[in-house]
Amino acid sequence: MKTLVLLFIVLTVDKGCCTETGDQVLSIIPTTQEQVDIVRNVSTQYETALWQPVSPQYIKEETTVHLFVPANSSGVIRGLLHKHAITHHVLLANTNELIEMQTMNDSSDPRSSSTFYERYHSLEDIYYWIERITHDNPTTVKAILIGSSTEKRPLYVLKLTLNNRPNKKAMWIDCGIHAREWIAPAFCLWFVQYSLSYYNTNPDITRILDNMDVYVLPVMNPDGYEFTWTTNRMWRKNRSVSRNSNCIGVDLNRNFDANWCTEGASSDPCSEIYCGAFPESEPESEAVANFLRNHKSSVQFYLSIHSYSQMLLFPYSCSLEEAENHRDLLEMAQEAAQKIQRHYRNIYKYGAGGKTIYLAPGGSDDWAYNLGIKYSFTFELQDRGSYGFLLPPSQISRACNEALIAVKTIALKVIEKT
Ligand code: ARG
Ligand code: ZN
Repeated sequence: MKTLVLLFIVLTVDKGCCTETGDQVLSIIPTTQEQVDIVRNVSTQYETALWQPVSPQYIKEETTVHLFVPANSSGVIRGLLHKHAITHHVLLANTNELIEMQTMNDSSDPRSSSTFYERYHSLEDIYYWIERITHDNPTTVKAILIGSSTEKRPLYVLKLTLNNRPNKKAMWIDCGIHAREWIAPAFCLWFVQYSLSYYNTNPDITRILDNMDVYVLPVMNPDGYEFTWTTNRMWRKNRSVSRNSNCIGVDLNRNFDANWCTEGASSDPCSEIYCGAFPESEPESEAVANFLRNHKSSVQFYLSIHSYSQMLLFPYSCSLEEAENHRDLLEMAQEAAQKIQRHYRNIYKYGAGGKTIYLAPGGSDDWAYNLGIKYSFTFELQDRGSYGFLLPPSQISRACNEALIAVKTIALKVIEKT
Protein backbone atom coordinates (compact mmCIF):
# COMPACT_ATOMS: atom_id res chain seq x y z
CA MET A 1 0.00 0.00 0.00
CA LYS A 2 2.74 2.39 1.05
CA THR A 3 4.62 1.77 -2.20
CA LEU A 4 1.47 2.29 -4.17
CA VAL A 5 0.87 5.66 -2.59
CA LEU A 6 4.51 6.56 -3.14
CA LEU A 7 4.33 5.50 -6.74
CA PHE A 8 1.27 7.62 -7.18
CA ILE A 9 3.06 10.65 -5.72
CA VAL A 10 6.12 10.05 -7.89
CA LEU A 11 3.95 9.80 -10.96
CA THR A 12 2.08 13.01 -10.29
CA VAL A 13 5.17 14.94 -9.34
CA ASP A 14 6.89 13.63 -12.42
CA LYS A 15 4.49 15.52 -14.62
CA GLY A 16 7.07 18.09 -13.61
CA CYS A 17 6.33 21.57 -14.58
CA CYS A 18 2.58 21.58 -14.26
CA THR A 19 1.61 20.13 -10.98
CA GLU A 20 3.24 22.45 -8.47
CA THR A 21 0.94 24.82 -6.72
CA GLY A 22 1.70 28.32 -5.57
CA ASP A 23 3.65 31.14 -7.13
CA GLN A 24 7.29 30.59 -7.96
CA VAL A 25 10.50 32.35 -8.80
CA LEU A 26 12.42 30.84 -11.69
CA SER A 27 16.12 31.27 -12.32
CA ILE A 28 16.69 31.28 -16.09
CA ILE A 29 19.84 31.53 -18.16
CA PRO A 30 19.25 32.17 -21.85
CA THR A 31 22.32 31.39 -23.94
CA THR A 32 21.40 32.47 -27.46
CA GLN A 33 19.77 35.58 -28.84
CA GLU A 34 16.73 33.50 -29.75
CA GLN A 35 16.42 32.34 -26.14
CA VAL A 36 16.86 35.92 -24.94
CA ASP A 37 13.95 36.97 -27.12
CA ILE A 38 11.78 34.16 -25.80
CA VAL A 39 12.51 35.01 -22.17
CA ARG A 40 11.81 38.68 -22.89
CA ASN A 41 8.52 37.75 -24.49
CA VAL A 42 7.54 35.50 -21.63
CA SER A 43 8.24 38.28 -19.14
CA THR A 44 6.07 40.75 -21.03
CA GLN A 45 3.27 38.54 -22.40
CA TYR A 46 2.47 36.76 -19.16
CA GLU A 47 1.56 38.14 -15.80
CA THR A 48 5.02 37.83 -14.31
CA ALA A 49 7.32 40.11 -12.34
CA LEU A 50 10.95 40.49 -13.30
CA TRP A 51 13.13 40.45 -10.21
CA GLN A 52 16.39 40.60 -12.04
CA PRO A 53 17.18 42.40 -14.27
CA VAL A 54 14.73 45.19 -13.54
CA SER A 55 13.47 45.49 -17.13
CA PRO A 56 13.28 43.05 -20.10
CA GLN A 57 15.66 45.18 -22.18
CA TYR A 58 18.51 44.11 -19.87
CA ILE A 59 17.96 40.40 -20.41
CA LYS A 60 21.11 39.20 -22.12
CA GLU A 61 22.85 36.02 -23.17
CA GLU A 62 24.53 34.15 -20.32
CA THR A 63 23.14 36.35 -17.56
CA THR A 64 20.83 34.99 -14.94
CA VAL A 65 17.21 36.10 -14.93
CA HIS A 66 15.07 35.86 -11.80
CA LEU A 67 11.43 35.77 -12.80
CA PHE A 68 8.45 35.66 -10.47
CA VAL A 69 5.75 33.49 -12.02
CA PRO A 70 2.22 33.24 -10.62
CA ALA A 71 0.82 29.75 -10.17
CA ASN A 72 -1.70 30.00 -12.97
CA SER A 73 0.89 30.64 -15.68
CA SER A 74 3.81 28.63 -14.33
CA GLY A 75 2.83 25.49 -16.24
CA VAL A 76 2.69 27.22 -19.60
CA ILE A 77 5.85 29.21 -18.98
CA ARG A 78 7.92 26.25 -17.85
CA GLY A 79 6.55 24.34 -20.81
CA LEU A 80 7.79 27.05 -23.13
CA LEU A 81 11.22 27.16 -21.53
CA HIS A 82 11.39 23.39 -21.81
CA LYS A 83 10.36 23.35 -25.43
CA HIS A 84 13.09 25.83 -26.36
CA ALA A 85 15.65 24.06 -24.17
CA ILE A 86 16.27 27.14 -22.07
CA THR A 87 18.23 26.36 -18.92
CA HIS A 88 16.16 27.08 -15.85
CA HIS A 89 15.34 25.88 -12.39
CA VAL A 90 12.95 26.76 -9.63
CA LEU A 91 14.67 29.22 -7.33
CA LEU A 92 11.76 29.56 -4.91
CA ALA A 93 9.13 26.87 -5.10
CA ASN A 94 6.47 28.39 -2.98
CA THR A 95 6.62 32.09 -2.52
CA ASN A 96 3.21 32.20 -0.86
CA GLU A 97 4.76 30.62 2.19
CA LEU A 98 7.65 33.09 2.22
CA ILE A 99 5.29 36.03 1.87
CA GLU A 100 3.28 34.71 4.75
CA MET A 101 6.47 34.49 6.80
CA GLN A 102 7.26 38.10 5.99
CA THR A 103 3.86 39.37 7.05
CA MET A 104 3.48 37.13 10.08
CA ASN A 105 3.36 38.60 13.57
CA ASP A 106 2.56 42.02 12.40
CA SER A 107 -1.12 41.72 13.09
CA SER A 108 -0.90 39.36 16.06
CA ASP A 109 1.76 41.24 17.96
CA PRO A 110 2.37 44.42 16.07
CA ARG A 111 3.93 46.96 18.30
CA SER A 112 5.74 45.74 21.34
CA SER A 113 8.12 42.85 21.98
CA SER A 114 11.85 42.64 21.68
CA THR A 115 11.83 41.34 18.14
CA PHE A 116 10.18 44.44 16.70
CA TYR A 117 13.22 45.30 14.59
CA GLU A 118 13.56 41.76 13.33
CA ARG A 119 10.20 41.79 11.64
CA TYR A 120 8.68 43.59 8.69
CA HIS A 121 6.00 46.14 9.41
CA SER A 122 2.90 47.36 7.67
CA LEU A 123 2.73 51.02 6.76
CA GLU A 124 0.22 51.63 9.51
CA ASP A 125 2.62 50.22 12.07
CA ILE A 126 5.49 52.27 10.70
CA TYR A 127 3.43 55.44 11.13
CA TYR A 128 2.61 54.31 14.63
CA TRP A 129 6.30 53.65 15.28
CA ILE A 130 7.18 57.18 14.08
CA GLU A 131 4.70 58.60 16.57
CA ARG A 132 6.01 56.50 19.40
CA ILE A 133 9.72 57.08 18.75
CA THR A 134 9.24 60.86 18.60
CA HIS A 135 7.01 60.82 21.68
CA ASP A 136 9.50 58.71 23.67
CA ASN A 137 12.52 60.79 22.62
CA PRO A 138 11.22 64.35 22.63
CA THR A 139 14.60 66.06 22.80
CA THR A 140 16.49 63.92 20.30
CA VAL A 141 13.99 62.85 17.62
CA LYS A 142 11.76 65.16 15.64
CA ALA A 143 9.38 64.23 12.83
CA ILE A 144 9.41 66.70 9.95
CA LEU A 145 6.61 66.59 7.39
CA ILE A 146 8.29 67.10 4.03
CA GLY A 147 5.32 66.50 1.76
CA SER A 148 2.77 63.87 0.89
CA SER A 149 2.50 60.98 -1.54
CA THR A 150 0.31 60.69 -4.63
CA GLU A 151 -2.43 59.14 -2.51
CA LYS A 152 -1.93 61.87 0.11
CA ARG A 153 -0.06 59.90 2.71
CA PRO A 154 2.31 62.01 4.80
CA LEU A 155 6.07 61.78 4.18
CA TYR A 156 7.83 62.11 7.53
CA VAL A 157 11.54 62.56 7.95
CA LEU A 158 12.98 61.82 11.38
CA LYS A 159 15.69 64.17 12.49
CA LEU A 160 18.08 62.73 15.05
CA THR A 161 19.96 65.32 17.05
CA LEU A 162 21.91 63.57 19.77
CA ASN A 163 24.25 66.41 20.49
CA ASN A 164 23.72 70.15 20.39
CA ARG A 165 27.02 71.37 19.01
CA PRO A 166 26.65 74.41 16.76
CA ASN A 167 27.11 74.18 12.97
CA LYS A 168 26.74 70.46 12.82
CA LYS A 169 26.85 68.66 9.52
CA ALA A 170 24.25 66.12 8.53
CA MET A 171 23.62 62.88 6.74
CA TRP A 172 20.49 61.74 4.94
CA ILE A 173 19.16 58.19 4.62
CA ASP A 174 16.05 57.25 2.66
CA CYS A 175 14.57 53.80 2.51
CA GLY A 176 11.86 52.22 0.43
CA ILE A 177 11.99 54.19 -2.82
CA HIS A 178 11.05 50.86 -4.37
CA ALA A 179 8.00 49.32 -2.79
CA ARG A 180 8.90 45.63 -2.87
CA GLU A 181 12.33 46.05 -1.26
CA TRP A 182 11.05 45.48 2.25
CA ILE A 183 14.45 45.15 3.89
CA ALA A 184 14.99 48.86 3.16
CA PRO A 185 12.37 50.36 5.50
CA ALA A 186 13.37 47.68 8.01
CA PHE A 187 16.90 49.09 7.88
CA CYS A 188 15.76 52.67 8.44
CA LEU A 189 13.89 51.62 11.57
CA TRP A 190 16.84 49.54 12.69
CA PHE A 191 19.24 52.42 12.18
CA VAL A 192 17.18 54.87 14.22
CA GLN A 193 16.81 52.38 17.04
CA TYR A 194 20.53 51.58 16.96
CA SER A 195 21.49 55.26 17.03
CA LEU A 196 19.29 55.97 20.02
CA SER A 197 20.38 52.86 21.92
CA TYR A 198 24.12 52.97 21.32
CA TYR A 199 24.90 56.66 21.41
CA ASN A 200 27.44 56.99 24.21
CA THR A 201 28.13 53.25 24.24
CA ASN A 202 29.42 52.49 20.79
CA PRO A 203 32.34 54.78 19.92
CA ASP A 204 31.65 54.87 16.17
CA ILE A 205 28.01 55.84 16.34
CA THR A 206 28.84 58.29 19.13
CA ARG A 207 31.44 60.05 17.02
CA ILE A 208 29.08 60.12 14.05
CA LEU A 209 26.16 61.55 16.01
CA ASP A 210 28.42 64.03 17.79
CA ASN A 211 29.38 65.44 14.43
CA MET A 212 26.24 64.98 12.38
CA ASP A 213 22.51 65.25 12.59
CA VAL A 214 20.81 62.39 10.81
CA TYR A 215 17.74 62.69 8.63
CA VAL A 216 15.90 59.43 8.06
CA LEU A 217 13.01 58.96 5.65
CA PRO A 218 11.76 55.47 6.55
CA VAL A 219 9.41 54.98 3.60
CA MET A 220 9.86 57.22 0.58
CA ASN A 221 7.18 55.41 -1.41
CA PRO A 222 4.36 54.79 1.09
CA ASP A 223 1.65 54.20 -1.55
CA GLY A 224 3.70 51.51 -3.25
CA TYR A 225 4.68 49.97 0.09
CA GLU A 226 1.07 49.78 1.20
CA PHE A 227 0.18 48.21 -2.16
CA THR A 228 2.79 45.46 -1.63
CA TRP A 229 1.16 44.63 1.70
CA THR A 230 -2.40 44.58 0.43
CA THR A 231 -2.46 43.69 -3.23
CA ASN A 232 0.75 42.89 -5.10
CA ARG A 233 3.91 41.92 -3.21
CA MET A 234 6.04 42.50 -6.33
CA TRP A 235 5.14 46.15 -6.93
CA ARG A 236 8.12 48.49 -7.45
CA LYS A 237 6.93 51.95 -8.53
CA ASN A 238 4.77 54.54 -6.83
CA ARG A 239 1.03 54.56 -7.52
CA SER A 240 0.46 57.63 -9.62
CA VAL A 241 -2.06 57.56 -12.44
CA SER A 242 -0.85 58.43 -15.89
CA ARG A 243 -2.74 60.79 -18.18
CA ASN A 244 -2.37 58.79 -21.36
CA SER A 245 -2.12 55.20 -20.20
CA ASN A 246 -3.93 52.75 -17.97
CA CYS A 247 -0.65 51.65 -16.46
CA ILE A 248 0.10 52.91 -13.01
CA GLY A 249 3.22 54.13 -11.29
CA VAL A 250 6.48 55.96 -11.86
CA ASP A 251 9.88 54.56 -10.90
CA LEU A 252 10.86 57.20 -8.35
CA ASN A 253 14.51 56.33 -8.86
CA ARG A 254 14.22 57.40 -12.49
CA ASN A 255 12.29 60.58 -11.74
CA PHE A 256 15.10 62.83 -10.51
CA ASP A 257 16.77 65.45 -12.65
CA ALA A 258 19.98 63.63 -13.60
CA ASN A 259 20.14 62.89 -17.34
CA TRP A 260 16.45 62.28 -16.87
CA CYS A 261 14.82 59.64 -19.07
CA THR A 262 17.87 58.86 -21.18
CA GLU A 263 19.16 55.32 -21.82
CA GLY A 264 18.35 53.08 -18.84
CA ALA A 265 14.94 54.60 -18.19
CA SER A 266 11.70 54.34 -20.13
CA SER A 267 9.08 56.86 -21.22
CA ASP A 268 6.51 54.04 -21.35
CA PRO A 269 4.15 54.28 -18.35
CA CYS A 270 3.82 50.49 -18.41
CA SER A 271 7.55 49.96 -17.86
CA GLU A 272 8.99 49.16 -14.42
CA ILE A 273 11.52 51.92 -15.06
CA TYR A 274 9.08 54.60 -16.24
CA CYS A 275 10.68 57.98 -15.67
CA GLY A 276 7.45 59.97 -15.25
CA ALA A 277 6.13 62.92 -17.26
CA PHE A 278 9.01 65.23 -16.30
CA PRO A 279 11.75 65.38 -13.63
CA GLU A 280 10.26 65.54 -10.14
CA SER A 281 6.79 65.02 -11.57
CA GLU A 282 6.05 62.83 -8.55
CA PRO A 283 5.23 64.34 -5.15
CA GLU A 284 7.53 61.84 -3.43
CA SER A 285 10.64 62.74 -5.42
CA GLU A 286 9.75 66.42 -5.39
CA ALA A 287 9.44 66.42 -1.60
CA VAL A 288 12.84 64.80 -1.16
CA ALA A 289 14.47 67.10 -3.71
CA ASN A 290 12.97 70.20 -2.09
CA PHE A 291 14.10 69.14 1.34
CA LEU A 292 17.65 68.45 0.19
CA ARG A 293 17.83 71.71 -1.77
CA ASN A 294 16.88 73.51 1.45
CA HIS A 295 19.45 71.63 3.52
CA LYS A 296 22.31 71.27 1.09
CA SER A 297 24.64 73.47 3.11
CA SER A 298 24.60 70.97 5.99
CA VAL A 299 24.01 67.59 4.35
CA GLN A 300 27.30 66.02 3.30
CA PHE A 301 26.41 62.38 3.04
CA TYR A 302 23.46 61.09 1.04
CA LEU A 303 22.41 57.45 1.24
CA SER A 304 19.57 55.56 -0.41
CA ILE A 305 18.76 52.02 0.70
CA HIS A 306 17.58 49.37 -1.77
CA SER A 307 17.68 45.61 -2.27
CA TYR A 308 18.66 43.10 -3.50
CA SER A 309 22.13 42.19 -4.82
CA GLN A 310 24.64 43.31 -2.15
CA MET A 311 26.26 46.33 -3.70
CA LEU A 312 27.65 49.65 -2.55
CA LEU A 313 27.16 52.06 -5.44
CA PHE A 314 28.07 55.68 -6.01
CA PRO A 315 27.75 58.17 -8.90
CA TYR A 316 27.45 58.09 -11.69
CA SER A 317 24.61 55.81 -12.71
CA CYS A 318 23.19 58.28 -15.21
CA SER A 319 26.31 58.15 -17.37
CA LEU A 320 29.58 56.28 -17.66
CA GLU A 321 31.51 59.36 -16.62
CA GLU A 322 33.65 59.29 -13.52
CA ALA A 323 32.65 61.46 -10.59
CA GLU A 324 35.12 64.19 -9.78
CA ASN A 325 35.97 62.56 -6.41
CA HIS A 326 35.75 59.03 -7.79
CA ARG A 327 38.91 57.90 -5.96
CA ASP A 328 37.53 58.98 -2.59
CA LEU A 329 34.19 57.32 -3.21
CA LEU A 330 35.82 54.13 -4.41
CA GLU A 331 38.10 54.00 -1.41
CA MET A 332 35.19 54.51 0.99
CA ALA A 333 33.05 51.85 -0.66
CA GLN A 334 35.96 49.45 -0.78
CA GLU A 335 36.76 49.86 2.89
CA ALA A 336 33.09 49.38 3.74
CA ALA A 337 32.85 46.23 1.63
CA GLN A 338 36.03 44.84 3.18
CA LYS A 339 34.70 45.43 6.69
CA ILE A 340 31.49 43.63 5.84
CA GLN A 341 33.45 40.73 4.49
CA ARG A 342 35.71 40.56 7.51
CA HIS A 343 32.82 40.64 9.98
CA TYR A 344 30.18 38.69 8.13
CA ARG A 345 31.94 36.82 5.34
CA ASN A 346 29.52 38.26 2.86
CA ILE A 347 30.55 39.73 -0.47
CA TYR A 348 29.40 43.20 -1.50
CA LYS A 349 30.35 44.50 -4.91
CA TYR A 350 31.18 48.17 -5.09
CA GLY A 351 31.74 50.83 -7.73
CA ALA A 352 30.17 53.52 -9.82
CA GLY A 353 26.59 52.52 -10.65
CA GLY A 354 26.76 52.88 -14.42
CA LYS A 355 29.78 50.64 -14.76
CA THR A 356 28.92 48.22 -11.96
CA ILE A 357 25.33 47.38 -12.93
CA TYR A 358 23.77 49.36 -15.74
CA LEU A 359 22.95 52.87 -16.82
CA ALA A 360 20.07 54.10 -14.68
CA PRO A 361 19.47 57.83 -15.14
CA GLY A 362 17.21 59.95 -12.97
CA GLY A 363 18.39 58.36 -9.72
CA SER A 364 18.33 60.17 -6.41
CA ASP A 365 22.01 59.51 -5.69
CA ASP A 366 23.26 61.16 -8.89
CA TRP A 367 20.87 64.04 -8.43
CA ALA A 368 22.03 64.61 -4.83
CA TYR A 369 25.63 64.39 -5.98
CA ASN A 370 25.10 67.04 -8.64
CA LEU A 371 23.36 69.20 -6.05
CA GLY A 372 26.69 69.27 -4.22
CA ILE A 373 26.40 66.38 -1.76
CA LYS A 374 29.75 64.89 -2.68
CA TYR A 375 29.41 61.70 -0.68
CA SER A 376 26.43 60.04 -2.26
CA PHE A 377 25.69 56.33 -2.18
CA THR A 378 23.09 53.71 -2.97
CA PHE A 379 23.27 50.46 -1.02
CA GLU A 380 21.72 47.29 -2.32
CA LEU A 381 21.26 45.09 0.75
CA GLN A 382 20.88 41.29 1.02
CA ASP A 383 20.69 38.95 -0.55
CA ARG A 384 22.06 37.92 -3.94
CA GLY A 385 18.93 36.17 -5.07
CA SER A 386 18.40 33.17 -2.81
CA TYR A 387 15.32 34.84 -1.42
CA GLY A 388 15.52 38.13 -3.27
CA PHE A 389 12.76 40.48 -2.15
CA LEU A 390 11.34 37.73 0.06
CA LEU A 391 14.20 37.77 2.55
CA PRO A 392 12.92 35.96 5.66
CA PRO A 393 12.58 37.98 8.86
CA SER A 394 15.27 35.80 10.45
CA GLN A 395 17.81 37.47 8.12
CA ILE A 396 16.86 41.06 8.93
CA SER A 397 19.32 41.56 11.76
CA ARG A 398 22.26 40.26 9.75
CA ALA A 399 21.33 42.31 6.69
CA CYS A 400 20.97 45.45 8.79
CA ASN A 401 24.20 44.89 10.69
CA GLU A 402 26.09 44.57 7.43
CA ALA A 403 24.61 47.81 6.15
CA LEU A 404 25.29 49.46 9.49
CA ILE A 405 29.00 48.68 9.27
CA ALA A 406 29.09 50.23 5.82
CA VAL A 407 27.22 53.34 6.94
CA LYS A 408 29.55 53.79 9.90
CA THR A 409 32.67 53.31 7.80
CA ILE A 410 31.62 55.87 5.24
CA ALA A 411 30.19 58.38 7.72
CA LEU A 412 33.42 58.36 9.74
CA LYS A 413 35.39 58.98 6.56
CA VAL A 414 33.11 61.83 5.60
CA ILE A 415 33.67 63.40 9.02
CA GLU A 416 37.41 63.00 8.59
CA LYS A 417 37.40 64.59 5.17
CA THR A 418 35.11 67.56 5.78
N1 ARG B 1 18.69 48.95 -8.54
C1 ARG B 1 18.68 50.38 -8.47
C2 ARG B 1 17.70 50.94 -9.47
O1 ARG B 1 17.44 50.31 -10.47
C3 ARG B 1 20.06 50.91 -8.70
C4 ARG B 1 20.25 52.28 -8.24
C5 ARG B 1 21.63 52.80 -8.57
N2 ARG B 1 21.62 54.23 -8.68
C6 ARG B 1 20.99 54.88 -9.66
N3 ARG B 1 21.03 56.17 -9.68
N4 ARG B 1 20.36 54.27 -10.59
O2 ARG B 1 17.15 51.99 -9.26
ZN1 ZN C 1 15.54 49.54 -5.68
